Amino acid sequence: MDPECSPRRLLVTGGAGFIGANFVHYWLARYPADRVVVIDLLTYAGNRASLAAIEEHPGFRFVQGDIRDQALVERLLREEAIDILVHFAAESHVDRSIAGPDAFIDTNILGTHALLKAARAVWLAGDAPLPGHRFHHVSTDEVYGSLGQSDPAFSETTAYAPNSPYSASKAASDHLVRAYHHTYGLNTTISNCSNNYGPYQFPEKLIPLCILNLLEGKPLPLYGDGRNIRDWLYVEDHCHGIERILERGRVGETYNIGGDNERTNLQVVETLCGVMDTLRPEDAPHARHIRFVKDRPGHDRRYAIAADKLEYELDYTPMHRFEEALATTIHWYISHETWWRPILNGEYREWVGSHYGSGCAASPG
Ligand code: NAD
Ligand code: DAU
Repeated sequence: MDPECSPRRLLVTGGAGFIGANFVHYWLARYPADRVVVIDLLTYAGNRASLAAIEEHPGFRFVQGDIRDQALVERLLREEAIDILVHFAAESHVDRSIAGPDAFIDTNILGTHALLKAARAVWLAGDAPLPGHRFHHVSTDEVYGSLGQSDPAFSETTAYAPNSPYSASKAASDHLVRAYHHTYGLNTTISNCSNNYGPYQFPEKLIPLCILNLLEGKPLPLYGDGRNIRDWLYVEDHCHGIERILERGRVGETYNIGGDNERTNLQVVETLCGVMDTLRPEDAPHARHIRFVKDRPGHDRRYAIAADKLEYELDYTPMHRFEEALATTIHWYISHETWWRPILNGEYREWVGSHYGSGCAASPG
């Protein structure tokens, strides 16, 4: 893909989800002349309100639709003359994959395959492939499994060892993407990223869950001993990494994206509590709300990312420091209650009730 060749025409799957919405904002702010078409089914995790600020942008179009609908995707690729597909749409929550894996197989594996078939049918039809086309698949570091305390971080050559139905479904989708490049010559790239945080994240995930619980004076549930380790990356840095891969990445390649920010879950939640102590000293210490609860089955102990390939090959470095970006994220949730309150009042309540029982997660106010 030639970065000078603007305007570009992107199809973004899952653009009403957390990272997809951040990516759409990021992209149109930098490349306002580009066309960005979002396809999103608006499952429980999709939220049109996350795109409200760019609904009127002349280059933006929203289509409510299913990535498993190959005919719809082919039609969009043709009528919008799309040359870049950025694939975020997925079932993304590990705990839900443990409670009910079927949706993860359907969306993450069959959905990705439907997209690949559509891209092949449109971009590789006839004698010559569409020049400069790109299928970018957004994946996760969880495909590599779990690390011990002193193991080296995951690199792009680490063997796949997914442990949850979620990560297994993402691993399968990665393999399909790879196979469509190798077999049919589709121009693909894959990124495997660590844990994201930032605006518009659905409150089932650790950081927004704990922010909302802190705002509501509710317990902060930590699985097991709270010492599982994740590598945290501010979502804007993830978008920046994907931008670099789209503009300079080599087709057929995989790139890891990470924040070089390993923290135990306990450290993350204590940091959140520290920020809240400053903002609301009258309620300090907020850490008194921490509760250790039953562990997640098969809970991966540690993830860590070696992102040297992205850094050296594509000149990428994350821009945000964890403590600052976490404080920014807390401020965003404080000032966007109109975004999250309807979620707490909606079907999310059922998930909270069935997963945590009473008392351990934010509930409607
Ligand atoms: P999310 O759950 O917030 O959003 C997923 C979006 O996909 C929602 O808008 C949903 O409506 C949409 N969707 C689901 N099924 C669909 C279907 N069949 N057709 C069309 N749209 C559908 O997810 P997220 O956290 O933004 O993650 C986005 C991608 O990034 C996922 O592929 C995930 O595996 C990957 N990823 C996430 C993280 C993270 O920390 N959140 C880290 C690394 C990789
Ligand atoms: O590593 C990338 C992955 O990060 C993405 O592929 C997934 O889509 C994304 O959901 C995320 O997966 P995790 O399982 O790591 O994220 P989650 O926020 O659910 O949990 C983070 C850590 O916090 C994990 O060790 C489990 C723990 N946790 C989570 C919840 C929801 C708790 O201790 N208590 C909780 O209530």
